[in-house]
Amino acid sequence: MEKPLTAQQFSQILWAAQGITEANGLKRAAPSGGALYPADVYAVVGEHGVEDLPAGVYHYEPARHNIEKVGYEDKKRDVAVASLRQMWIASAAAVFVVTAQYSRITAKYGDRGVRYALIEVGHIGQNIFLQCQSLGLAAGIVGAFHDDRVAQAINARKHHEPLIVMPVGYRA
Ligand SMILES: Cc1cc2nc3c(=O)[nH]c(=O)nc-3n(C[C@H](O)[C@H](O)[C@H](O)COP(=O)(O)O)c2cc1C
Repeated sequence: MEKPLTAQQFSQILWAAQGITEANGLKRAAPSGGALYPADVYAVVGEHGVEDLPAGVYHYEPARHNIEKVGYEDKKRDVAVASLRQMWIASAAAVFVVTAQYSRITAKYGDRGVRYALIEVGHIGQNIFLQCQSLGLAAGIVGAFHDDRVAQAINARKHHEPLIVMPVGYRA
């Protein structure tokens, strides 16, 4: 069993991914075409994965820098199985999943909005990597998974399509 992330580390990673960066503003830590923010961040937390946080799945709410519990069990194993049985994913302290809801951005930019959403999720992933590095944590990135099975494991809202899975923990 890995040492848990502190609540502060966990919170900081979520903030780096999609936190609001201006007082009373809307802008977030990663750039977004037209500031339309098609991405959402979910965190899959195991037993003792994050200090003082019960195992479950959490959805990040940027406006309040808060998390909403959307799942009540440790789903890391389900995410690992859905990721073509890359079981190393299940041993992470927490697994972040970034989704996109394309309609938020294609409404303005048409098909090109899909490109913008993918670019944006790339920025979010890089922010997670950089934040983890600065906290002395290790992070990985996974793109090989069944979209529908990961969406099911994290209880993703309708139209939130998983694009990257990022296991985070302490360096081995
Ligand atoms: C979009 C994307 C998808 C990836 N999917 C996986 C994956 O499913 N499993 C995995 O172990 N690594 C995955 N990787 C990580 C690459 O294998 C890794 O970045 C590459 O080997 C280079 O190593 P480095 O990132 O340590 O420099 C993915 C990377 C990217 C950018």
